[in-house]
Amino acid sequence: MFALLISLPTFDLFRSITPPPVLVAIFGLLAVSSADEWHYPTPESNGVIKDPEHWGGQCDTGRRQSPIDLTHKAAVRGDFSPFLFSNYMNPIRNAQLANTGHSVQIDNSDPSVTLYGGGLPGKFVLDQMHFHWGSEHTVNGVRYGLELHMVHHDARYKTLAEAAAVKNAVAVLGVLFHVANQDNAHLDVVLETSDDIRDVAGKSAPLKGRLSPHNLLPRNRTAFFRYEGSLTTPTCAESVIWTVFTESLPVSLDQVELFKTIHDGAGHELVNNYRSLQPLNARALVYTTDMTMAGSGAALAPVTTLVLAAVALVTAGRLW
Ligand SMILES: *[C@@H]1O[C@H](CO)[C@@H](O)[C@H](O)[C@H]1NC(C)=O
Ligand SMILES: [Zn+2]
Repeated sequence: MFALLISLPTFDLFRSITPPPVLVAIFGLLAVSSADEWHYPTPESNGVIKDPEHWGGQCDTGRRQSPIDLTHKAAVRGDFSPFLFSNYMNPIRNAQLANTGHSVQIDNSDPSVTLYGGGLPGKFVLDQMHFHWGSEHTVNGVRYGLELHMVHHDARYKTLAEAAAVKNAVAVLGVLFHVANQDNAHLDVVLETSDDIRDVAGKSAPLKGRLSPHNLLPRNRTAFFRYEGSLTTPTCAESVIWTVFTESLPVSLDQVELFKTIHDGAGHELVNNYRSLQPLNARALVYTTDMTMAGSGAALAPVTTLVLAAVALVTAGRLW
């Protein structure tokens, strides 16, 4: 909060005098209430980000914030029922791509696009999809080129805004993209459209093609990390059940570079739009894969058969 105050140019006027507490309070309110004032720190010329963001409020004081490093060492084993995706195969209706000044986003207005199962406490409706370049979550300390967030709200609430105030009423699916040789054709439609909105925060354009949420999901949707966290942008509300799939999808280097040319609200290139890693603190980090494939059932069956066969042989030997 004080870092924000000092960076306000008007504060220079008061530098030689001690600001009365009332003024501090007023500036504090201004800094918090202008919702779009926040920004990502600009990397140094060597690409390294020196200072983490100071966004105030819960972003600074929360104890269950996102993103985090997803490390297998810190994770405990989970077993959830499979995810059920309804209407994810349908192209988003009247899809628009918006430059939010912090990302590019596609809103979904069809309430029949829903997510169920996967350990979630009910049915969740898809609100929007947006991208972070590089990834916000890291896996065992490794950052990916791109991360897609599919943001959902619990169907018991009317809107995402309403759900965002309630613990575990928002579910975000995170999909990681690793840099590969080939373009990802499903991202091409997003990047071609971003041409039209690249330079102007707040601008939207109709998507230049079809985009089904299903095409941006990995094939393996049974292997994922699960933890309880927050939105990764102000207000950083701690209402999110996170799912980050371990199977990543490809994105070409050219495609990553195109995302980096999108402009923010100040007219600068949005070189990076990931939040710094947050501490896990006392939270459980869960890792799950389908038990039948990797677990005891399938693996033990042949062993059991062998043991039974051996017992049968020994028993037969005695009888003879
Ligand atoms: C998904 O990935 C996990 C971890 O690599 C693996 O154990 C599991 O068998 C995979 N499931 C499917 C259906 O491919
Ligand atoms: Zn996000």
